[in-house]
Amino acid sequence: MGVADLFQFTSAHAHINLIGWVSLAITGVIYHIFPVAGESKLAKIHFWLMMIGVPLLAFSMILFGLGQFGIGGPISGIGGIFIFIGAILFMINIMKNVKEKVITL
Ligand code: HEM
Ligand code: HEM
Repeated sequence: MGVADLFQFTSAHAHINLIGWVSLAITGVIYHIFPVAGESKLAKIHFWLMMIGVPLLAFSMILFGLGQFGIGGPISGIGGIFIFIGAILFMINIMKNVKEKVITL
């Protein structure tokens, strides 16, 4: 992207990395440390919403980069809603199932 000067794909790149990698890694570590939260039904639904929503959002941002706004719009809408609902479920799961824990390293 940098070498070829294709900065219209910066948004796709940023979200693939920040949602697809950083956010999922953080939630995954939290689920690992707090298995009650990680094994809950909410976590499974959160996981699948992200597995569908993140690729849709990333793909739509690539389409935006290519100037395909007509088809990119609805795809980004669906992807964004999936990610948004996933994040809300994650928050509910954390409030319900994450209790104080002594972490030994
Ligand atoms: C080999 C790894 C990576 C390369 C070569 C790379 C390269 C780039 C380039 C060329 C840009 C565009 C900069 C510009 O518009 O002037 C960019 C933007 C960006 N990158 Fe990366 N990147 C890498 C990894 C990552 C990772 C791991 C993350 C996040 C976890 C990330 C987050 C971002 C963000 C948020 C922007 C947008 C910054 C803005 O809008 O000002 N990148 N990256
Ligand atoms: C439902 C989920 C999300 C949607 C629909 C969304 C949408 C957007 C949009 C439309 C932009 C402006 C892009 C542009 O001006 O070209 C943007 C920028 C940005 N977003 Fe998101 N976002 C979401 C979640 C996130 C999350 C979770 C993070 C961080 C963990 C994040 C980090 C950023 C950053 C760093 C930028 C500025 C870099 C760029 O221009 O792409 N976003 N986002």
